[in-house]
Amino acid sequence: MKSDELLDRVVLPGGSEMRLIRWDAHVAIEIDGRPLMSTHEHGSEDDLGRVVAERLAGIAAPRVLIGGLGLGFTLRAALDALPKAAEVVVAELVPDVVRWNRAKYGAYAGRPLRDRRVTVVVGDVGAAIAEGRDYDAIVLDVDNGPDALTHNVNANLYKPTALQRTRRALRPGGMLAVWSAFPSRAFSKVLAASGFGVELLRPPPTTEGGPRYYVWIGRKPAASRGSARAGVVRSARPTAARPSRAR
Ligand SMILES: C[S@@+](CC[C@H](N)C(=O)[O-])C[C@H]1O[C@@H](n2cnc3c(N)ncnc32)[C@H](O)[C@@H]1O
Repeated sequence: MKSDELLDRVVLPGGSEMRLIRWDAHVAIEIDGRPLMSTHEHGSEDDLGRVVAERLAGIAAPRVLIGGLGLGFTLRAALDALPKAAEVVVAELVPDVVRWNRAKYGAYAGRPLRDRRVTVVVGDVGAAIAEGRDYDAIVLDVDNGPDALTHNVNANLYKPTALQRTRRALRPGGMLAVWSAFPSRAFSKVLAASGFGVELLRPPPTTEGGPRYYVWIGRKPAASRGSARAGVVRSARPTAARPSRAR
């Protein structure tokens, strides 16, 4: 029988409680008792980092912004597939999450914060986007999706004003990748209306009978003069069967 052990807890602005829990050989992050991330199931996080890095193949020194850090698996997968000259900025809202990754819990994802290509920004990824320029990819895994928020502040990230800022922070041809536990026709439309070419990836569940997840790839047109003609394309991108997170 598994028994949970509370390793650390932090009260977030707004009153929610984030906890770091150990059970057996694994650790998990919970918000108000709901699982957010675990070292046991991180297949979809791995896929996200890998899918983005694979799409940057051919760029000698890609610049990538990832929000947030979680337990570092998306960052790890991206680093494993990105070239030596890549630059990766990770924005993480909760300072304690960065501290946990710098402590022994960073070992689960192979200590990605020690990679010299990585810069950590403690704060809202929305602010990092507003200040950012010339990214080849911006990756958002800060929530359960545009329609399922764990932090209310994140609603803004998926709105037209923020998406236009995101588009400005990308190079022509650059991409926004958004992880979600749920599809959202409304978000696909907002993304397209904000000048992105939209592809919704629907990988198969990573465990038999397990939960599905979704990734939007919003592509800034390579020639970005005038208004972009954006459309929505669906694709079931094949991915290797991996265990998925329970959120
Ligand atoms: C589901 S976890 C990310 C999991 C991560 N992909 C991994 O591989 O472990 C979400 C993370 O985003 C952070 N976060 C939430 N909102 C954020 C924001 N606005 N800016 C930056 N980080 C944010 C949370 O504190 C949490 O660490």
